[in-house]
Amino acid sequence: MRISIMGCGYVGLVTGACLAEMGHDVVCTDNDGGKIERLNQGALPIYEPNLGDIVVRNEKAKRLSFTANLGEAVRFGDAIFICVGTPPLQDGDADLSAMDSAARLIAAEARSSKLVIEKSTVPMQTGQKLKRALGIYARNSGCSFSVASNPEFLCEGTAVADFLHPDRIVIGVGDEHTEVQLREIYRPLVEQTIACPIHNGNCPPKPAPRLLVTSINSAELIKHACNSFLAVKISYANLIADICENMGADVDEVVEAMGLDPRIGPHFLRPGLGFGGFCLPKDVQAFIRLGQKASVDVSLLKDAECINKNRIESFLAKARQALWILKDKRIGILGLAFKPGTDDIRFAPATELISRLLQEQAKLQVYDPEAMEKTKVLFPSIRYCDDPHDVADGAEALMIATEWPVFKTLDWRRIERSMSRPLILDGRNLLSGEEMTALGFEYRGVGKPTDESAHAAAHHGQAPSR
Ligand code: UDX
Repeated sequence: MRISIMGCGYVGLVTGACLAEMGHDVVCTDNDGGKIERLNQGALPIYEPNLGDIVVRNEKAKRLSFTANLGEAVRFGDAIFICVGTPPLQDGDADLSAMDSAARLIAAEARSSKLVIEKSTVPMQTGQKLKRALGIYARNSGCSFSVASNPEFLCEGTAVADFLHPDRIVIGVGDEHTEVQLREIYRPLVEQTIACPIHNGNCPPKPAPRLLVTSINSAELIKHACNSFLAVKISYANLIADICENMGADVDEVVEAMGLDPRIGPHFLRPGLGFGGFCLPKDVQAFIRLGQKASVDVSLLKDAECINKNRIESFLAKARQALWILKDKRIGILGLAFKPGTDDIRFAPATELISRLLQEQAKLQVYDPEAMEKTKVLFPSIRYCDDPHDVADGAEALMIATEWPVFKTLDWRRIERSMSRPLILDGRNLLSGEEMTALGFEYRGVGKPTDESAHAAAHHGQAPSR
């Protein structure tokens, strides 16, 4: 099928490249002409594993192209995926102005009837508004528009694999013809007929995804309901971590046992500095606003958000407890991206941590495998190290803010020697406390029993967990 992608951000690029990989003819556009120019020169604006390869291959195969000519892109596709940004407004509502501009553009430029698909994460009832807007803006064109919602469940760092091996595909439609078109688009995934480019024919065994056909409102709600549930789950794990830390238990032991219950499942129970990124925090906010508008009690979501906001403060409290005053203390930070496998620092816990440490006038030296260039724009005056070991040089504490697996295999003996005080504050429980202690570090993880909590537990007649 001929497909247009509007918006060459993270979701647009992954969607466009993967749809081309599935055999469709795809044209992508963006109102940032500079971005299109750079894409045409071969520069991807984001770091996402496997994306570069499939972009290049599909461009060569003439199935994928980028154009700054918005009208041409609109006219190309029988189906148009809207993948524009929906950032949060001051009050937490999603800013839908880019959706509205896309609707105007499609209505003005289309010369034939189109299927318009919302891929961007939007509040419920946006599909209805989009359909109405398209009808109004195109009232004299003679073109008709059908609208569908097709939420994405892509995780940064594994987005290409998530797209090509989905657990489920949700299509929210209002009529049968739209359903037929979307089934046709996703047929290669449902029938598992594509030669997967990332696993070289050795894809991990996975059942074919279920394609769920829902109303447009339900599809929009599913996305928010999923992301908010994940956020609540993470905050719940963080609440357990705080109880563990104060009462002398080990959160990793607790969540491991919890995760073995199939009703709970092991995912999204990792405690630490909390959830960041451009999706979970803003989606929870937007969901809270939506619930309030629907006169629903959203205190569960507000509490999850509040627990998340407090993660950095409680981590800093731990740092102050160990270092007393943070002013003029040299502190190393490993990890800047909001999670491993990406260079994205939007709403990253590490960014908030750095701002707060700078407010307290700590001296920072930082490292991240992918996110340093983006962080330099926000914090130009801190020291960026080319080698992760250098963040420890003369430092009085080393903080781990993102759990990049590569940090596990650093030369920790060398790091211990180079620090002026070998203190590790592990905000992601990446390292083994036992191993670090054996190497001579003072180690503080998240939700781990401390000497004080173990003592308090013993004092109350309970044995500490370790
Ligand atoms: C999320 C959703 O998972 C995805 O389905 C949706 O399409 C987009 O939003 P993403 O933003 O890529 O994906 O990140 P995700 O893997 O969900 O992690 C979000 C944040 O939660 C990260 O900061 C991560 O470090 C944190 N996290 C995740 C935890 O703190 N603990 C966990 O157990 C899991």
